[in-house]
Amino acid sequence: MHQDCERVLITEEELRRRVEEIARAVNGRYQGGTPIVVGILKGSIIFFADFIRHLEIPIRLDFMSVSSYGEGAASSGKLRIRKDLDSDVSGRDVILVEDIIDSGFTLANLKKLFEERGARSVCIVTLLNKKDRREYDVFPDFNCFDIENEFVVGYGLDYDERYRNLPYIGILKREIYET
Ligand code: PRP
Repeated sequence: MHQDCERVLITEEELRRRVEEIARAVNGRYQGGTPIVVGILKGSIIFFADFIRHLEIPIRLDFMSVSSYGEGAASSGKLRIRKDLDSDVSGRDVILVEDIIDSGFTLANLKKLFEERGARSVCIVTLLNKKDRREYDVFPDFNCFDIENEFVVGYGLDYDERYRNLPYIGILKREIYET
């Protein structure tokens, strides 16, 4: 385990099994369609890559990068699009893939945006869900793991752009982010 982690929260094996299970459930929902699977950068990248490899339906891929902050340090309360989709989602089924739902701000706004753009359906697939932190009314259609309010890194998730490449989800030592 990485020396900056206090403990492993979700092992590689647990991730592998659960991601496959969730992908199988998603396969069942989309028989006959070709959804656009949208990865929200950057935290979702590893989950996204593992998840789509278990999809047995035809799909299109796309990516989006968003931030909840404006140019200043304080939250603008508005979703800022850093990189938009290449695809037109009008009339299409969309699967949004996220690493984590925290307050719910990002996904609540993204879901609304895709609906405004005329998506036929918007489905939310998340790796982690911090239910107790929710401030916005949004629910994942498929969620791999509910977690407590811990500082988690690895499997795509970062602290200051570090630790994304850890193959497991670890809890970061308090001293790392409090110094
Ligand atoms: C994280 C995460 C979600 C969002 C969740 O992104 O990937 O997009 O925060 O928080 P919310 O539910 O309170 O909106 P972050 O801005 O850290 O970017 P990253 O994915 O590039 O690390």
